[in-house]
Formats: sequence, C-alpha cells, structure tokens
Amino acid sequence: MQYTTLGKSETKISQIGLGTWQFGSKGWGFGTDFTKKDAIEIVHKSFDLGINIIDTAEVYGGGQSERIVGQAIKEHNREDIIIVSKFLPAAIRPSAVKRALAKSLERLQTEYLDVYLIHWPNPLLPLGATLEHMEQMVEDGKIRHIGISNFGLKRFQKAQSKMNKFSIEVDQLNYSMAKSRVKNEFLPYAEAHKVTVMAYSPLGQGYLTGKYTPHNSPKGTRRRNRLFRESNFKRGAPLLEEMKIIAQEKNITMSQLALSWLIQNKQVIAIPGAKSLSQLEENAQAGDVSLSRQEIDQLNVQVDQFKPKLIF
Ligand SMILES: NC(=O)c1ccc[n+]([C@@H]2O[C@H](COP(=O)([O-])OP(=O)(O)OC[C@H]3O[C@@H](n4cnc5c(N)ncnc54)[C@H](OP(=O)(O)O)[C@@H]3O)[C@@H](O)[C@H]2O)c1
Repeated sequence: MQYTTLGKSETKISQIGLGTWQFGSKGWGFGTDFTKKDAIEIVHKSFDLGINIIDTAEVYGGGQSERIVGQAIKEHNREDIIIVSKFLPAAIRPSAVKRALAKSLERLQTEYLDVYLIHWPNPLLPLGATLEHMEQMVEDGKIRHIGISNFGLKRFQKAQSKMNKFSIEVDQLNYSMAKSRVKNEFLPYAEAHKVTVMAYSPLGQGYLTGKYTPHNSPKGTRRRNRLFRESNFKRGAPLLEEMKIIAQEKNITMSQLALSWLIQNKQVIAIPGAKSLSQLEENAQAGDVSLSRQEIDQLNVQVDQFKPKLIF
C-alpha cells in the first residue's frame, strides 16, 4: 500500500481508502447483495490490507453507514484509523453543523472525527459562519481537520479565503478515468497548495470495471448515473478497450488500473466502495501497482478524448 499525507498536515493516509455509501443503502444492494455482517468484515479486513482511511457521511443509509463503521472500529485502535464524515448543509443555520457533528460522533461511537467535510455547497448557507463553527470544532478537539466536497476550484478558493485559523485540507470530488475534469481543473491547484483530492466514485460506480454493458447495467441508485447510458458506452469504448489491453499486459484488473491511475499522483487518494471481501482485496492491491510514464500517457490520450454526455 502506498501512503501519503493529508493536505498540509503530517497525518498519514493510505492512497486507497474505503468508501461506505454502500453500507445500509438498499439502492446499492444492501440487504440483498450483501449484509451488515459483510460490511463489518469489509471494515475489519481493510485494516489488514493497509487501508487506514474510511469515508462515511450522515446521509449514507440514513445513518446506518456511520453506525456500521462505528461498530466495526470499536475492535481496533482508534488512533490508527482516519475517519472521514460529512454533513449535508440542508438547514441554512450555520450552527446546525454542531448538532450534525454530535449525531455523527454518537453513531460512530467516537470522541472525534479525523476529517469533517461539508458534503455539498449550499449557496443559501452562510459559508463563512459554518466554517467558523468548524474551526471551533478543531480547537475543541472534536475534529482534527476540515474539508469540503463537491466544491469546484472557484468555490474551494472562496471557502479557503474565509478560513481564519486553519486550512481546508481536503476536497472530495467525483474523479475517475471516466469523469476526469479534476485532472486539469483542480489538481494543479491541489498540488501547488497541498490540498488532498479524495477521489470519489473512482471506478465510475462500476463503469470502469469492465463488467457492465449497455444491456447489463446496474440497477438501484446507479440508474441515475448517466455513464451507464448506451451512448456513453459507445463514447467510452476506446477508453475501456485501452484499459483492457494495458490491464492484461500488466496482469491486473481494469478496476486496479483505474485506481492506480488516480493515485500515481501523491495529492490524490481513491476511496472505492466495496460490497465483498474480494472487491476490497482487489481494490487494496491497486495500492501497490505502479504505472510507467508511457502507460500513463497512453491512458491519458483516451481519458482526455472521452467526453461522456452527462446532461440529457
Ligand atoms: N462526496 C460525495 O458527494 C460522494 C458521492 C459519491 C460517493 N462518495 C464516496 O465515495 C465512495 C466510492 O464511490 P461510489 O461508491 O459512488 O463508486 P465506486 O467506488 O466507483 O464504485 C463502487 C462500486 O463498484 C463495484 N466494485 C467495487 N470494487 C469492485 C471491483 N474490484 N471489481 C468489480 N466491481 C467493483 C461495487 O458495486 P457492484 O459490485 O454492485 O458493481 C461497488 O459498490 C462511496 O462509498 C462514498 O464513500 C462520496
């Protein structure tokens, strides 16, 4: 497993983390494809595999994800684990974040979060006042680091300009070989300013694994994901083909190639979700794959050419 540091801090994080939106979410097949027992085993096993960072959120599974993670981590040394959670700024009162944190801590059965993120920008929410509450949480020892999610570069810079005492260490963004805008838009800034890019949906929610086709695309939550439309399989065919060839040459899977492509940059970590131990193991092994300059360049040609139609 490759490790890096979180933002400007010295906190050590694995470049492959574990995403847990799947835990407790029927739309991801929780209760049919996999169970709570599987989810708990996935968390335990992730630590054996060198993963030390787990991503959850108050909304995942209506709080179930945090509860499951909380139950699993009780058996481990809390200091060895980096827990990331997020609140949805739905209420426009900035102080609502305090109640949200208290509830997340309760569900996670922990005294503090390592990273706390604003899940989505909300233009109606006074951002400065919210961040002020978050800075106070750091001072109170309730959270160790502040982050945001789904903030593009301009919004990130605006948020950073409102910070008084600390830096925003993380932007969690939809970033993969299938949705790669971050590469040219946010990553150069992240590198220059030491911001960690936490790449969510790093497998394109399964699109990049090679197992889905226009006639066999996932159901549930992912029905909304336009990547799985027939037209985007056509557009993405050259990328998926190139990935297949390179993965075969390297004797790795397409999923591992998709994850390793992301983490060749030390500013990026990937947080794939997993529904089974075998998926988790496969994903964690991507933390040991290295790609040559030539392989990266070859992949980037296809990544840059792939323009999925996401609005229609
Ligand atoms: N901040 C945000 O707004 C935001 C938004 C989305 C996600 N996230 C976070 O990011 C995490 C990851 O994103 P995501 O779950 O949307 O997408 P993802 O990680 O790209 O895809 C996960 C899905 O891909 C399949 N998969 C995983 N590993 C595989 C493997 N090795 N081989 C084949 N299939 C595999 C599994 O579903 P199947 O087996 O059913 O195909 C799994 O549920 C989430 O769990 C969540 O923590 C954050």
